[in-house]
Amino acid sequence: MDLARSQEELQKLLNSNKIKGSSLGFVPTMGALHKGHLSLCHVASRHAERVCASIFINPRQFGPGEDLATYPQDTQADLAKLEGAGVDLCYLPIPEDIYPLGYSTTVDVGPVARPLDGSSRPSFFSGIATVVTKLFNRVRPDVAVFGEKDYQQLLVIRRLVADLDLGVKIVGAPIVREEDGLAMSSRNRYLTPPERRIAGELNQIMAKTCQRIEGGVPAPAALAQGREDLEAAGLRPVDYFELRSSVDLSPMPERELRRTEMEEARLFAAVMLGRTRLIDNMPVV
Ligand code: PAJ
Repeated sequence: MDLARSQEELQKLLNSNKIKGSSLGFVPTMGALHKGHLSLCHVASRHAERVCASIFINPRQFGPGEDLATYPQDTQADLAKLEGAGVDLCYLPIPEDIYPLGYSTTVDVGPVARPLDGSSRPSFFSGIATVVTKLFNRVRPDVAVFGEKDYQQLLVIRRLVADLDLGVKIVGAPIVREEDGLAMSSRNRYLTPPERRIAGELNQIMAKTCQRIEGGVPAPAALAQGREDLEAAGLRPVDYFELRSSVDLSPMPERELRRTEMEEARLFAAVMLGRTRLIDNMPVV
């Protein structure tokens, strides 16, 4: 696997015989890689002849008081994992390479970036849209793969690519979970052993809530019950626990859902567990 630490090295490697002339798949990450990230690399290699991954802890998507300074880093282990997953090229820029002195442009994607994580983390999605636009312009991939774990991010990127004619095919990849249902995340490393033992309940309570709605319980009652169950399990405060459209995140009607509405509905949750914020989502049906 080749390694590029600067924009210049990246362009040289993209122009090398190994990569030039082949279709290119791209998997952007912030490192501390786990099986979820690696599954994205495997999906990318099914869609393209060569795969490029990036590791960049993007300061613009962290708010004040968030974990930028302590975000887990394990570059040597990450590179070995990417190589094992068949990645051809890894781009590992430093912040000054991405945001040189004087950098000032921000990309704002609009309504799809506003609810859920956009409302509790105001500059989060503009930070993501900005860095992904820059990475796409530098790597110029044919296809890029994003995980459904961050479902709102996936929709934000789809909107971004369509609106700004970025010409990259966006592929969504399913959530990779631990045995108890906990969605894999770099931030799961923050969980203490007692917290880790209850973290899987988030997914289990969400699944139960979806089953209730599918079984005909009106959504408001099922959501209220789910919230109560989360709090009782110690998954609190609940930041959001909402049904929204899988297509554009618009809110679902607050009544018993028709079959077609149910098929579009997705449950989104963010809860605190000690000092760690957990997010998850799943389709109702
Ligand atoms: P990061 O959190 O490192 O995630 C990188 C990619 O891995 C994202 O597309 C995310 O959805 C996916 N991913 C994470 N956990 C997953 C899981 N359990 N199953 C499937 N996919 C999973 O998301 C980011 O970084 C950043 O916002 C980034 C897009 C790199 C921009 O800075």
